[in-house]
Amino acid sequence: MKGIAVLGATGSVGVNTLDVAARHPDRYRVVALGAHRNVDGLLKQIEQFRPSHAALTDPAAAQILERHVQAQGLPTRVLGGPESLETLATLPDVDQVMAAVVGGAGLRSTLAAARAGKRLLLANKESLVMSGPLLMAAVHASGCELLPIDSEHNAIFQCLPPGAKAGHAPEGVRRILLTASGGPFREWSAEAIAAATPEQACKHPNWVMGRKISVDSASLMNKGLELIEACFMFGMPPTRVEILVHPQSVIHSMVEYVDGSVLAQLACPDMRTPIAYGMAWPERIAAGTDFLDLIRTRQLDFVAPDTTRFPCLALARAVADTGGLAPAILNAANEVAVTAFLERRLNFPDIPAVIECVLSRAPGGEIRSLDDVLQADAQARDLAQEFCRTRGAALKAIHA
Ligand SMILES: NC(=O)c1ccc[n+]([C@@H]2O[C@H](COP(=O)([O-])OP(=O)(O)OC[C@H]3O[C@@H](n4cnc5c(N)ncnc54)[C@H](OP(=O)(O)O)[C@@H]3O)[C@@H](O)[C@H]2O)c1
Repeated sequence: MKGIAVLGATGSVGVNTLDVAARHPDRYRVVALGAHRNVDGLLKQIEQFRPSHAALTDPAAAQILERHVQAQGLPTRVLGGPESLETLATLPDVDQVMAAVVGGAGLRSTLAAARAGKRLLLANKESLVMSGPLLMAAVHASGCELLPIDSEHNAIFQCLPPGAKAGHAPEGVRRILLTASGGPFREWSAEAIAAATPEQACKHPNWVMGRKISVDSASLMNKGLELIEACFMFGMPPTRVEILVHPQSVIHSMVEYVDGSVLAQLACPDMRTPIAYGMAWPERIAAGTDFLDLIRTRQLDFVAPDTTRFPCLALARAVADTGGLAPAILNAANEVAVTAFLERRLNFPDIPAVIECVLSRAPGGEIRSLDDVLQADAQARDLAQEFCRTRGAALKAIHA
């Protein structure tokens, strides 16, 4: 029986994780559930799974949750505040931590799980992008098992030679072929993309996901973040990670070997497959997904990504080459710009414009400590906010 903590429990990955856990009550006990401020969503999950601990990082929301939990006589201790997810991640009864908070907000709890030597199921790619060298050092120091949950990295992990170690270039591997669906704007003209709304950006053709990652998929920044994630996770330089647009999302990524072999992992696009793989590894368990019907799929297409219509990908590749604090700066600027786009304060093409501007003005440098990362993140967010305000005011004037 493995104890599991789900951080970001109320989100898309969190809900899918609990779905898999509920299918295997003989194998998994949900010990802890954490989220930001969704009281109703977390309360329902507490009623179903009766964890020993639950947390909301928003203190006021945590107080409301605690009142409900007490009124119902549920056996759950409720924690609140920004550090509460770190407490959940390091509880003695927790064997596995699903790191599924969205964005840089997941950094500290992901690091805490790695430092505590838990099995780390990493969906929160932003934490690895921001602090790759620190997170990988924590994984190596504690002996933590790092298992990728992003479907692409999970696919790569499944195709690597047995015994491949996180952060070390695997023997005999020539390249990683990272597939991208191309997102909802894959076939749109630059003019149409310029007028895209948040609703259109969040309507992914193959996956149902949270709003931030949906916008990242539409801009191809998600693939850029995944490129950086792959370099840290598999110890590969950016030059050995190729990105292929594969609109069917059936092949989730591939590994090319020096002998010319290419191994691929195929599955229906359903996050429960990589989640179940990570939870049960090295065993396999049922995930509740549909099974692939290749006769109905018929065709698998591949094209090169277009970095003219999708400049975020080129920005991320440049940052992957630079390294140091540059990925943290890119990530912070992207988070601010995506929020502004979702709140209709920016147009879609302003997202790469904000990031480019922040990258050119933020100091960058080496990562020596977590403080370096947090400082670069805060500075980049301030710069990005400033750019969003100026750009937003200009947009308002145009529409007035
Ligand atoms: N969705 C997918 O299919 C998918 C696939 C691959 C990788 N990922 C990665 O998985 C992560 C989660 O994605 P998602 O799509 O599941 O996101 P989502 O549906 O937006 O859910 C986000 C979760 O994070 C919590 N959260 C938000 N802000 C927080 C904060 N400041 N502090 C603590 N918790 C916070 C939310 O809690 P509240 O509900 O209380 O706000 C919610 O539980 C992302 O890093 C994403 O890139 C997702």
